[in-house]
Amino acid sequence: MIFPQIIQGGMGISVSSWQLANAVATRGQIGVVSGTAIDLVLVRSLQNGDPGGHRRRAMAAFPRQEVVERILEKYFIADGKEPEKAYSNKTMVGEAPSIELQELLIVANFVEVYLAKEGHNGLVGINFLHKIQTPMMPSIYGAMLAGVDVIIVGAGIPLEIPKIIDGLSRNEAVEFSLPVKGATDGAPFKMQFDPNLVFDDCPEPHTPYFFPIVSSVTLANLMVKKCGEGVNGLIIEGPTAGGHNAPPRGKTQYNERGEPVYGKRDEVDFEKIRDIGLPFFIAGSFASHEKLEEAKAMGATGIQVGSLFAFSDESGLTAEIKLDAVRHCLAGTESIFRDPVASPTGFPFQVLSLPDTLSEQDVYEDRKRICDLGYLREAYQKEDGSLGWRCASEPLPAFLRKGGTEEDAKGRKCLCNSLMANIGMPQRRKGGVEELPLLTSGYNLTAIKEIVKPGKETYSASEVVDFLLGE
Ligand SMILES: Cc1cc2nc3c(=O)[nH]c(=O)nc-3n(C[C@H](O)[C@H](O)[C@H](O)COP(=O)(O)O)c2cc1C
Repeated sequence: MIFPQIIQGGMGISVSSWQLANAVATRGQIGVVSGTAIDLVLVRSLQNGDPGGHRRRAMAAFPRQEVVERILEKYFIADGKEPEKAYSNKTMVGEAPSIELQELLIVANFVEVYLAKEGHNGLVGINFLHKIQTPMMPSIYGAMLAGVDVIIVGAGIPLEIPKIIDGLSRNEAVEFSLPVKGATDGAPFKMQFDPNLVFDDCPEPHTPYFFPIVSSVTLANLMVKKCGEGVNGLIIEGPTAGGHNAPPRGKTQYNERGEPVYGKRDEVDFEKIRDIGLPFFIAGSFASHEKLEEAKAMGATGIQVGSLFAFSDESGLTAEIKLDAVRHCLAGTESIFRDPVASPTGFPFQVLSLPDTLSEQDVYEDRKRICDLGYLREAYQKEDGSLGWRCASEPLPAFLRKGGTEEDAKGRKCLCNSLMANIGMPQRRKGGVEELPLLTSGYNLTAIKEIVKPGKETYSASEVVDFLLGE
């Protein structure tokens, strides 16, 4: 397979929306949707009345309509919920999700991929964060039922994914390890997923390619050594990319702003990556035509680009946020802080400073800690030996009761709720308080000045593709 030169990076939650992936794939490049918390996005869209009817159109194409009917019955509100009302919650995904929750995960991922693939013959991928293990298997299955072309997994070492894809392509039961903090035997919990327990008669899944996202030659080699032909390409991501980054190797040093500093040991020798012999893409401040040419000269197939697409017309971010970010970029006043503690995952997270978002200390401190979505929780072993769940950004007393420490909770932000606010689906709390956004971006935003046409403050995904291709 000869892959296109550009991957539009997966950006959660729903920043890489189906509209964005569709626009990029229509241009013959690889469009990627984000599978992160996409079950929640479906549930909230349905409660908003499914504007445009797109998600219901995709649901109508799902091969088991009785499942779709159950979901619509539970969540769809024809005229949309009252704006001042809260969204009704869905159950958090734990180590053994109910069949109902598995159905929702399958359908939500199906819908996103289906819509991204509509109307063109281009390639569509889906991105998952390895750190979010519990929804992974049904999510991959849902994406495969919609014919996803590439599964892309970052934020971890996704050694088990090729086996899962392989098993699911034959509708077989699969399993996935869930690390359990403090487990006395040190062993992970094995989560199970069997499509035959969800459907009496399983639909036909499509077998996609698999690209792990790695940040070093060691990890790239490990993936290939352990997974062999299960790995079809590599995405090599550097520390200036948007979203979560792999922590620096060795003992972490911090600069005067308190950001983790990356050094020589974090640099990737692309000759060694090329010698592996697989197609590879370079991500993280490679978003220009010159960098694309540089990547190709080093043997890469191309580049993966996130930030420039994040603020384009088709991304899932609200129009207000995009405008605010683009205005800062045009004025040259954008500011990014590599926050070592914001993410409950413990991975450094690139925060774009914008007014009235949790990037501001007083806005953050004003927020009452609530954990009601739970995608970034970690599993831990309780004193009685059973498995429990905690999140470093949940209310402190609860976190401490579950064996967490104050040190670990300090500065943690609720990415689940704020990332939903970024896409215009904030939860409404008692007293009318709405959850507020928190933006992430890579360092490479200056190019926005070159893309935005004079007199304009917006740009399309297609204009980003033109810019990258030097057209
Ligand atoms: C808003 C935003 C959200 C992101 N979310 C994810 C994500 O959910 N999963 C992931 O693997 N990478 C994520 N990334 C990284 C991108 O997929 C991509 O690799 C990266 O942005 C490339 O570097 P660039 O920002 O310099 O173009 C995100 C990036 C941005 C800007």
